[in-house]
Amino acid sequence: MTSLTVASREQRPALLRLGTLLAAMLFAFTLVLAGSVSAEAAPKAPKDPKNIGVLVNKNRPLKPKTYVPRDLTKIGSAKIRKEPARHMRSMMSAAKKAKKPVTIVSSYRSYKSQKTLFSQYSRWYGAKYASTVAARPGYSEHQTGLTADLGTPGGGCALGKCFGNTKASKWVASNSWKYGYIIRYPKGYTKVTGYAYEPWHVRYVGKKISSKMHHKKIRTLEQYYGLKR
Ligand code: DAL
Ligand code: ZN
Repeated sequence: MTSLTVASREQRPALLRLGTLLAAMLFAFTLVLAGSVSAEAAPKAPKDPKNIGVLVNKNRPLKPKTYVPRDLTKIGSAKIRKEPARHMRSMMSAAKKAKKPVTIVSSYRSYKSQKTLFSQYSRWYGAKYASTVAARPGYSEHQTGLTADLGTPGGGCALGKCFGNTKASKWVASNSWKYGYIIRYPKGYTKVTGYAYEPWHVRYVGKKISSKMHHKKIRTLEQYYGLKR
């Protein structure tokens, strides 16, 4: 009985150390678990060009490259898919109401028309510069039918950097997310998107994605999908 009591006393400091170690391990494990729960994993970037969240860029062509959307509809003389068309109409009415009207300069472009456009730009500026302002055929968001280039009714600054200084462009930059659109090539993100700043180029991604990007201040689709920082 006596020897047992003595032995327990001797073991006490060791048990205390073991207890502290276990408590520390439990604490560290809880921290790791909490971190992994709060850091939401980025969604997987869709490849199907029919998917409104599709990611198309210099590394991700449309599949197939000659893809043609099946539900193109007209807005004036421009063509765009049905769902983005509905939201584009709402956005254009709201812009008009806010006295910042916008027009569509260009929207759906086929593989063939993108090919002509890229060749034209290459002839004018050389292929290297052309590839910073225009996509190669099969690599343009315009071919998805989810994109539009916006301008002002007077036509001034169409597809020019000065469009970014217009009240209409500023209205679009602040409000497009409410209609499911994002400014796809923002200023200062050329390394991420592969393209120069295009304040006029809006891309329909649906309200779920545009709201999330707006609230989390995520500026590009590449970053939304966790593919670039
Ligand atoms: N201007 C954009 C990058 C396009 O041609 O799709
Ligand atoms: Zn464009």
